[in-house]
Amino acid sequence: MESFGRVAVLYGGPAGEREVSLESGRNVLEALQAQGIDVVGIDAMPGTLPAQLQASGAQRVFNMLHGRFGEDGVVQGCLETLGLPYTGSGVLASSLAMDKLRSKWLWHGAGLPTPEFRIVRGETADWTELVAVLGLPLMVKPIREGSSLGISKVNALEALPAAVAEARRFDDTVIIERFIKGQETTVGILERQPLPVIRLETAREFYDYTAKYLADDTRYLIPSGLGETVERRLQELALQAFDALGCSGWGRVDFMVDEAGQPWLLEINTVPGMTSHSLVPMAAKAAGIDFATLTRRILAGAQCQMQARAG
Ligand SMILES: Nc1ncnc2c1ncn2[C@@H]1O[C@H](COP(=O)(O)OP(=O)(O)O)[C@@H](O)[C@H]1O
Ligand SMILES: [Mg+2]
Repeated sequence: MESFGRVAVLYGGPAGEREVSLESGRNVLEALQAQGIDVVGIDAMPGTLPAQLQASGAQRVFNMLHGRFGEDGVVQGCLETLGLPYTGSGVLASSLAMDKLRSKWLWHGAGLPTPEFRIVRGETADWTELVAVLGLPLMVKPIREGSSLGISKVNALEALPAAVAEARRFDDTVIIERFIKGQETTVGILERQPLPVIRLETAREFYDYTAKYLADDTRYLIPSGLGETVERRLQELALQAFDALGCSGWGRVDFMVDEAGQPWLLEINTVPGMTSHSLVPMAAKAAGIDFATLTRRILAGAQCQMQARAG
C-alpha cells in the first residue's frame, strides 16, 4: 500500500453545511484509520487553519469541508501556499464550481446544456417579464451555496419576490432558472472516470435539504432506469462539465433529464458528501468500490497543483 505519511482530514468549518461536513469527515477519518493510515481530524476555521495544519504535522490533506471556505478555493489556496497535497480540485476549479452563475456561463460557452436563466442582483426585477421568458414553475437559487439551502421552486408569479428575498439571505446574487420537468440524476467522478448514474426520486417538490438529509423515503436508483443511451450521455457530459471547469480528483455532477431524455447540467460539487446517505459512496459501491477503497483512492489522488506543474 502507498505510504501517505500523516494525513489531516479537514471537516466542520464555518459554512452552512457544517453539520454535513462533520459527518462526512468522521466517516472518512474512521475509514482511513481502519486501514492503518496515520490520520488526524481538524475542525478547520478561517484564521487558525494554517497554524492547525502546521501543529498537526500533516503531510497530506483529505479535504471534507463542504461549502464556502472549504470548497470554494480559499482552503485550496492555503494548502497550495503551505505546499501540502490535498484531495479534489485546485483553486480555480473550486472557485468556479462553487459559483453556479460562472459555472453556467462556462458550460454555455463550451456548448454544454444548462437550463436557461436570468440574474437578479437587487431586491426587485421585472417579475412579469422573467416569468414570460422562463415560464412557470421556476427555480430560484443563491449562486454560492449548497445542500439546497436558499433554493425554492416557485409555482406562481406572486411567490417570486419572497423566494428571491430568501435566496438573497445566502448570496447577493441570485439566479432564476427554467424548471426542468423530468428525472433527477447525479454522476460521481473518480480519477476522471464517471461512476454509475444514480437517479433520485423524492415525494417532495424537489431534492431539498429535507429530502437530502432527513427524509427516509428518498429513493436512489442504480441502474437509473433511463436506459443505456441516456446513461452514457450523462457520463460523457459529466466528464465534459468537470473538464470545462478544470476540476480534478473527484467530484459529483448534478443533472435534470427532461421528458425527451435530454440532460441539463445543474452544478458540480467538488467536495461531495461522504455520509451514510451520500451519493458518491453509493455509486462507487455499485461499481464494486467499497468505502475504504474509495477513500484510499481519493487520498492517493491528492496533489498540490504548484508542485505538479513544477515537477
Ligand atoms: N432547473 C431546475 N429544474 C428542476 N429542478 C431543479 C432545477 N435546479 C435545481 N433543481 C432541484 O433543486 C436541487 C438543488 O439544486 P442544485 O442546483 O443542485 O443546488 P445545490 O447546490 O443546493 O445542490 C436539485 O437537486 C433539483 O432537485
Ligand atoms: Mg446539487
